This record gives sequence, structure tokens and C-alpha cells, in this order.
Amino acid sequence: MTTPGKSEKDRVVIFDTTLRDGEQCPGATMTHEEKLEVAELLDTMGVDVIEAGFPIASEGDFAAVNEIARRTKNAVVCGLARAGFADVDRAGEAIKPARRSRIHTFISTSPVHMKWKLQMEPQQVFEMVVASVARARNFTDDVEWSSEDGTRTERDFLCRCVEAAIKAGATTINIPDTVGYSVPEEYFALIKSVRERVPNSDQARFSVHCHDDLGMAVANSLAGVRAGARQIECTINGIGERAGNAALEEVVMAMRVRNDALPFWTGVDATMLTRASKLVAAVTSFPVQYNKAIVGRNAFAHESGIHQDGMLKHTQTYEIMQPADVGVKQTSLVMGKHSGRHAFAHKLEELGYRLAGNQLEDAFVRFKALADRKKLVYDEDIEALVDEEIATAQDHIKLVSLSVIAGTHGPQRATMKLDVDGKSAIEECDGNGPVDATFNCIKALVPHEAVLELYQVHAVTEGTDAQAEVSVRLSENGRAVTAKGADPDTLVASAKAYLAALNKLLARRARGSERRIHSTEAG
Ligand code: KIV
Ligand code: ZN
Repeated sequence: MTTPGKSEKDRVVIFDTTLRDGEQCPGATMTHEEKLEVAELLDTMGVDVIEAGFPIASEGDFAAVNEIARRTKNAVVCGLARAGFADVDRAGEAIKPARRSRIHTFISTSPVHMKWKLQMEPQQVFEMVVASVARARNFTDDVEWSSEDGTRTERDFLCRCVEAAIKAGATTINIPDTVGYSVPEEYFALIKSVRERVPNSDQARFSVHCHDDLGMAVANSLAGVRAGARQIECTINGIGERAGNAALEEVVMAMRVRNDALPFWTGVDATMLTRASKLVAAVTSFPVQYNKAIVGRNAFAHESGIHQDGMLKHTQTYEIMQPADVGVKQTSLVMGKHSGRHAFAHKLEELGYRLAGNQLEDAFVRFKALADRKKLVYDEDIEALVDEEIATAQDHIKLVSLSVIAGTHGPQRATMKLDVDGKSAIEECDGNGPVDATFNCIKALVPHEAVLELYQVHAVTEGTDAQAEVSVRLSENGRAVTAKGADPDTLVASAKAYLAALNKLLARRARGSERRIHSTEAG
């Protein structure tokens, strides 16, 4: 089917091998059900060919390819086979139920592989190419032949094998960079020259299959496409043998975003890329690196103040694609030590706060101090900080500093400095534990009769650098006040909570005496 405005000659077939080359890498094994789930998603998102497994490898692989062949609605379902007849027949059996099926047969063609791995002469390899392709054609008209270690294969021999494979019935010719050794210019030249030199090359689609050992799998694949290949073999999240394969999400988005330089297109629905990445990461337990292109969790996250400021003014300042293009709901402004005032104010608005002037400035200063101590500042941290800022704005007693000595060789000792109605006072007290020492300082600095009724600590967010949120209840003359304090240091949070409660008591006392004065005046 031709999409309007897009020429069929520029259409690149996406051949996904997550379930074969991807699953083949150490630790990425998937269960039968997980393979079915991945295959269904690949089919829905518009992948053209799903390489579902290597049927002769195990009963499990056979069953998965067979079931995927039965269930897949749109994509071609492909089974891998070495050049031997047993492999080809097993693959042919496995793909039988598919609406559209392919056998992908391969053999090594490089001198090093032929000599050491296969221990075969080139002529024997050549004969196996012809025999395996012809055998595969008994099962399906769609046969792919791969020259394993193609980039290290002697060029004349490669061209002879390709020509013979096409003559024997191969409809796709894949020239893999099996060991991830090539560089883009070289790979471009290789694909171009094979296409030019092989007389019947126009009767097959050329395919690229690049490994990422030198981090060039995507660049090499795209170079191959520029040289005339029209199929890319790739995997979700780039999983695969050793350093992995070209990442599907990267090749698809490179051709979309840079269509001016790479004027090709695919049938993949890019808005499903994030979902596919998450699914494959979950079923393989292979985490996606945070800064992974397209699908890493930081791919659309901005922390630096300059970047956040730019993003808030115009998203194109720092984003070359919209998060929604790849199925991410929105850009996230990650609040951290590099965030500026603008982003902080924007975050507060998002959280429903309206701070202005000094209050906003004070909250920002405290946010910066927190971000210096904590890697990631979550929304909950900001809420705790701002709630406290609002609550403490009118306070008579403010915590200036606190240091505590604690540990196994008591006594625990706290040194605290407070600002009480604009005057600073300092005290040092011992206690039965660091919290007791801290609270003894407050009692010494601000003598009071209130009784501590409750002291509770919990973490605002997860992780060992999470903020502690402490609740304190003080009661005086039968009436209680409760207050909270938050800080990454539990003792500072405790002091803040106690002082907040004490400030509330003072405020209540003041309101009470005001009421008494009013009633005396009135009386
Ligand atoms: O990397 C490779 O050469 C392969 C072949 C089986 C195509 O995975
Ligand atoms: Zn491979």
C-alpha cells in the first residue's frame, strides 16, 4: 500500500529481531507468553517482519514461532535457520500457520568464520547457500539469505554468494555487520558495491543488520539504507548479542525527524515506541539506560536552569521532536540543583501554589538548598517545603542552625541556634538520644510547659536521601496543637516540627490574650 506523498521506493521495511537476536543475548530470555505479548505489540505498531525465533534451537523456540505465526495479523512472521536442511525444514514447519511467512537462512562467509567456525572450504559454503535457499523456497516464496560476518567477507566471494542466493530464490539479501566492526562510510560502500556488482541484485531487497560493538549500529544501518538497502534489522531498546543490535526506535525516529537528510519512511506507528520499549524492558528485565535516545527516561527531561527556561518559552529550543511523537505524555522538567527561578515558579503553579515576592524568593532559596543535598527533588518534596514556608512565614521562633553528636559513645549532644523575635540565642544540651538532646535545646532556649504528646517520623519519598517528615503534637492547658517539619536530616525535621508546634501555641496564646483584652475593653 502506498501512502500519499510517500514513494514506495523510499519505504524501508522494518524487520524486528527482538524475539530472536534480542532474546538470544545473555539474560534476556522471555517466557512463551511474554514472547506472544511482544509479538502482538510489534504487529500492532506496524513492524513489517517479526523474526519470532530460531525454531530448531529448542522446543520452546519452535512453539513460540508457531504460535506467533498463528496469531499475527499483519506482519510477516519469520523463522531463522542455519544452512542445513534440518534447520530449514524445522523453520518451515514452525511458520506454516502464518498468513505471511518467511524463512531466514544464513551461513558465514568470512575467511575467519569459514576456517575456524565452520571448518569448511569456500566452495562448500557456496554450495550450501544455494541448497539452503532452494530448500527454503519449498515452504515459502519469501526467503531471506544472510552472509554472516558479511562485513569481513572477501568482496568477490560475497558477490558470488549473493548472486547465487538470488538465483536460487532469495527475495531478501542481508549483509550483516555481525561483529559490529564497520564504520558508516565503509558500510555504505559495501552495500553500494554489492548492489552494483551483482548482476541480478535488482531482483532482491537488500537488508542491513548491524551490531553495536563500537556504538555505530544505527549509523551503519542508516548508511546502508542511503546506499540502497530497504530493510533494517533491529530490536526494541537495541537489545541483542553482546553490545546489541541497531535500536528500532532510533532508526525509525532518525528517518522521521531528519527526513531532509534521510528521505525514507517506515510503516511503524512511532507513538507506540515508548510502550514497546517499556514492555521489552519489563519482560527481559533489561533496564533501559536513563539517557537512551528516544526511550530513555531522561530523553525528554530537562534539568538545567537554562534549558528549563528555554523550554518554557518555546519547546523547540531544546527538543527536536515532541514527546507525544514517541508516545511520551509530556516533557518533564526535573527539579534539581540546576533548575532556575522560572522553572521553580512554573512547578509551583503546576502544584497549585501561588507564591509571590519574598515568599517565592525564600521558597526558592530553600529549594536550592534542598536540591544541593538531594539528587532528585520530587513534587512531594516541593509541597512539603512550600507548606512549611507558608506555615513559618509569621513565626516568632525560627531555627537558625542545629548540630548533633550521636552514636554509640553517648552522651548525645545538640547545639542549637534560634532566632526568637529577631534576636539570636544559642544553647547546648545533652539528652537521652539525639532527638531528646535536640528538644532539650528548644526547652532551654524557649522555656515552656507544653507537653510532647506525639512524635512521628516518615519518609516523604523513597530512597535513603528522602526527606523525613516529622509530626509533633504539643499540649498545653488541655489543648493540643500538631505541626510538621520536613528535611533530609531527620533531626532537623524534628526540630522544625517541634518549633512549628511551639509557634502555633504562641500564636494561640497571643490570640487568647487579644480576645481577653477585647472582652475586658468591651466589658
Ligand atoms: O548478526 C548476525 O550475523 C546474525 C545473522 C543470523 C543474521 O544475527
Ligand atoms: Zn545478529
